[in-house]
Amino acid sequence: MSVITLPNATLDTNGNDTSGSAEAVARFDAAFDLLLRYHPDVVGAAEGLATTDASLPIGQAFVAYLSLMTTDVPDLAGAREAAAALDALPKNEREAAHAAAINAWVDGRWHAAARTLDDLLVRWPTDTLALLMGHLLDFFVGDSQNLRDRVGRSLPSFDPGHPRTGFVRGMHAFGLEESGHYERAEAVGVEAVERNPNDVWGIHAVVHSYEMRGLVDDGIRFLRSREADWGSGNLFTAHNWWHLALYLLEAGRYDEALAIYDAEVHNDASAGVSLEMLDASALLWRLTLDEVDTGDRYAKLAAAWERQVSEEPWYVFNDFHAVVALCGAGRVADARAMIERLERYVADTPVQPGTNRAVAAEVGVPVSRAVVAYTEGRHDDVVAGLLPIRRVFQRFGGSHAQRDLLQRTLTESAIRSGQLDLAHALVDERLSQRDTSVYGLFRRSRILSAQGQDERAVAAWKAATANRARFSAAS
Ligand SMILES: [Fe+2]
Repeated sequence: MSVITLPNATLDTNGNDTSGSAEAVARFDAAFDLLLRYHPDVVGAAEGLATTDASLPIGQAFVAYLSLMTTDVPDLAGAREAAAALDALPKNEREAAHAAAINAWVDGRWHAAARTLDDLLVRWPTDTLALLMGHLLDFFVGDSQNLRDRVGRSLPSFDPGHPRTGFVRGMHAFGLEESGHYERAEAVGVEAVERNPNDVWGIHAVVHSYEMRGLVDDGIRFLRSREADWGSGNLFTAHNWWHLALYLLEAGRYDEALAIYDAEVHNDASAGVSLEMLDASALLWRLTLDEVDTGDRYAKLAAAWERQVSEEPWYVFNDFHAVVALCGAGRVADARAMIERLERYVADTPVQPGTNRAVAAEVGVPVSRAVVAYTEGRHDDVVAGLLPIRRVFQRFGGSHAQRDLLQRTLTESAIRSGQLDLAHALVDERLSQRDTSVYGLFRRSRILSAQGQDERAVAAWKAATANRARFSAAS
């Protein structure tokens, strides 16, 4: 019996039927392997797929996703172009499911895109493109459980010896971390990184597991010892440097944190992409909360945000961080104008769950207003704005570590508005999760002192100082 081979069909490296010649599919696989490592050459590889392999459906899907995953409005045009090209091509069922997910995402239906990729992965669990993009979508919509579970559902289908399995474990580590399984996240992440030292996402998962447990010295040592693997030569450097800077804030090493900001997070040569600038905003805001002078950095950052944020609301997590930069730069009127634009967008856009409009209304606009209130010293308003929604902050995206600036803003305003019992409770909540938190212990000391409990205030201050000394010695 002869075996009939379908024309223009081949298996990709995951063993899934893929439309196109073996050579073209191999070029897609090679491009995806670059993306798994956040290698800068992925941009050129995608351009090659868009032109040389324009009739390759999975190639057009890859190009569309690569534009969407930046969350930047200017990249939407490229995503739409690739999505249209993909729509026009003959596709198999899996590729058609990718097209449906991409069209939902391009259309601003972020949750629908994530769910479509969930469904795709039920049928084709080893589709690593669907897995990675679904993972990123879970991150963008703050779905911490699915960050864990989407990968968990697929992982058993991967051969342990497959070259991509380690990277899938790196994704699983991040999902475990965001779901609160910190020890397991560390173990799975370290194993992934041992297998692929350039798995910068896996490195990042381990870094988060230290951050959430207040293991600052471990985090500093982990990152410094592996700096050659993550510190340069990939598209994820700024974020991992940002994490190192967070550790250094806990250690009171503000000059080093600012040096990292200048060299690695944001400077005149930065690409000006939102995913990097939001970390810049968040780092400066933490410094503001600690009353550290940040010089003219906010002004430069706010100008960079202005070049990036367009009139077309797309991902309010970015808009919020632009508001932070504008407030930090003292440009409160411009921040208000940005918020008013978001409010008009909320009012004028039909209500649809799982969209940027829904998240902007529920979280994005209120938290942006709170930052303006903080800047104007209206601390009662900050508390009134943030306290009722603090349990749903995650819906507007990012990680627990990224959103922590909101919890810190709330705590600081609770202190400054004299709501000391609330402030005390918020700090106790933090310290119950990471009892080494220098930030938490110093705040606890401040609150206790204001409450007249001098002896306990001194004890908290001594604990903070001792932890800070230990973290300061780490390298
Ligand atoms: Fe992170």
